[in-house]
Amino acid sequence: MPVPATGRLQWTDVPTPLRARLEDALDAPVTDTNTPAGGFGHQLAAALTLRGGRRVFVKAAPDADPLTAANVHEAAVLQALPPGAPAPSLLGVHRASRWTAVVIAHLDGPHPDLSPASTDAEQTWALLDKLTSSPAPAPYRAAVSATPSTAASLHGWAELAADPPADLPAAARDRLQQLAELETAWPALACGDRIVHGDLRADNMVRDHHHGVTFVDWAHATTGPACIDAASLAPQLVLAGHTPEDVADLLRDHPATATSPETTTAFLTALTGHWHRNARKPAPPGAPGLRAYQHRAAAAGLALLSHRLS
Ligand SMILES: Nc1ncnc2c1ncn2[C@@H]1O[C@H](COP(=O)(O)OP(=O)(O)OP(=O)(O)O)[C@@H](O)[C@H]1O
Ligand SMILES: [Mg+2]
Repeated sequence: MPVPATGRLQWTDVPTPLRARLEDALDAPVTDTNTPAGGFGHQLAAALTLRGGRRVFVKAAPDADPLTAANVHEAAVLQALPPGAPAPSLLGVHRASRWTAVVIAHLDGPHPDLSPASTDAEQTWALLDKLTSSPAPAPYRAAVSATPSTAASLHGWAELAADPPADLPAAARDRLQQLAELETAWPALACGDRIVHGDLRADNMVRDHHHGVTFVDWAHATTGPACIDAASLAPQLVLAGHTPEDVADLLRDHPATATSPETTTAFLTALTGHWHRNARKPAPPGAPGLRAYQHRAAAAGLALLSHRLS
């Protein structure tokens, strides 16, 4: 199955034997499907409605597609997260016709509103405090141990400094050397024993009507320093309309970042460098909107860094 040029694989793209296996395991035929907006992946990521009205969430791709390894990693993580973690339950993993489907409990609600008008951002900061206030339990550490952390390898400034693009903003151009040095420091600071979601954006959260803000898409989950998710959330808040000044204050004061300002700055620098570098690359197939998002995120990250470095 080639990667679709735009949009996601649909339920009808899934081989019939795997669809039959899922309906058998779920004990009812699928009567409706809905692909929520959000994310940049090309795999199936859809809510399935079953006869009788029950809903489940399914992610599926061919086994040859690297997204299957990510989905299987996510399934292992969902099963190993401690009770009370803000994540949906894993319902099962099913394989047929060299495809793999991961079935997850369905969350009902929109993406959270991270703008200053809503209390969702506040709730998200509180969840991050709870998630990172103690070391990850052993089953979680075991679940993520086989997959190298992608957070640790984030970078971009050294490449940009070697051949600065003409459209690089002055705020970056004026301190390229400093940014390259900070990102060089990041990999040595990237180890830690806390739970890290690793891809925290509004579209990787659902504000469930019963459970409140819940994190989804644990495909990049790893262990690391407590600051990673809070520092990832920060540019998302700027994108949602918070001022960089306010978000810089939040980062200064939040328990996950307050005690590790150097690690927080190094991570934010590496993440922002990754966005600035990748935003300027050709668009990959099957991920419409990714480069435009990276341009916006790069600007938000740089606005925050300008505060932290001045
Ligand atoms: N358990 C769930 N219940 C309801 N909706 C969900 C659930 N998990 C994810 N979603 C919705 O589906 C969208 C896609 O899911 P998810 O982010 O897990 O897929 P993805 O393909 O890995 O995305 P990405 O492109 O970010 O890598 C999310 O943005 C969210 O809106
Ligand atoms: Mg996602």
